[in-house]
Formats: sequence, structure tokens, C-alpha cells
Amino acid sequence: MAEMHRLRIRVNGEDYELYVRPKTLLVEVIRDHLGLTGTKRGCNSGACGACTVILNGMAVKSCSVLALQADGAEVLTVEGLAKGSELHPLQKAFLDHGAYQCGFCTSGMLMSAKALLDENPSPTKEEIKEGIHGNLCRCTGYNSIVRAIAAVAEGKYEEAER
Ligand code: FES
Ligand code: FES
Repeated sequence: MAEMHRLRIRVNGEDYELYVRPKTLLVEVIRDHLGLTGTKRGCNSGACGACTVILNGMAVKSCSVLALQADGAEVLTVEGLAKGSELHPLQKAFLDHGAYQCGFCTSGMLMSAKALLDENPSPTKEEIKEGIHGNLCRCTGYNSIVRAIAAVAEGKYEEAER
């Protein structure tokens, strides 16, 4: 049996310490160890983006990151977007623009969009498309998703105070 290694990680502002195998993936820690199942697991091969989370400020596909590579890191998942009962502006905009159907891609889309807007608060439509190019949606099509992200970038949605 593979040796277990200690992992210290901060997820959505909470500190966790757990023991994982060397090949345990970050998505497995998030979903299976911490029970944060808003992060989805689709292709499991870095292709679909359903598992996207923000790791130390960067959008990453958590099926392509070993948990131990995130030792000491700060992770934000979709569960960390809302402030209490107040949805994040991107969540509100996705709702208002009908930017989801089955919802399987949605948490990954939201996390890529957040990472994009954190780095570039006023992206062009092309930059938005580039920002979510690693996230596949088989239902909605991308126009409503891009419009929702653009609406937040244009300041149409206020962020709640914590
Ligand atoms: S599940 Fe990670 S990219 Fe598809
Ligand atoms: S809403 Fe179904 S995959 Fe995007």
C-alpha cells in the first residue's frame, strides 16, 4: 500500500490537514475528502474543464493536479464564491442570462471566469472566449456564457459585502 503523506491545504478560507497517497488528485481531495461536490469530474484527463478550481489565484483543472502539489496552497471552489446567502455576481449573471442547462460545466466555467476577471476586470469578448477556452459546454452554447461574463465585467452586478 502506498505511503500516506500529510497535506495541508486551505479551501474556501478553511484550513485542512489530511493524509493522501502520492497519486491522489486534487479533485479527489476536494470532492471525496472534503465533500465539496460542486466541483465536477468529467473527462478526468484535463480536456473538459468541469473540475476547474482556483489554485493560488490561477484557474487549474483539478483532475490534472496532484493533491500534494497543492500542499500549502489556497484553493477556491465554486462553494466559496457566494457570500453567505448572497450569490457571487458571476452566479447571478449566469442565472439571469440562462448560461447553463444541465449545469455540469457551470462550476468550472464560473471559476475560469472569476480567475479571468480577477486578472483582467475589463476583458474584451475575445478575451472572455480565450479565458473559458478550456471549459467545454455541450448544452448551452457559449454565447449566453460570454454575455453573462461580459455583463459582470461591465459592472452590471454588484458584489455583496461580507
Ligand atoms: S474532469 Fe478535469 S478537465 Fe475534465
Ligand atoms: S450546461 Fe450542460 S455542459 Fe454546460
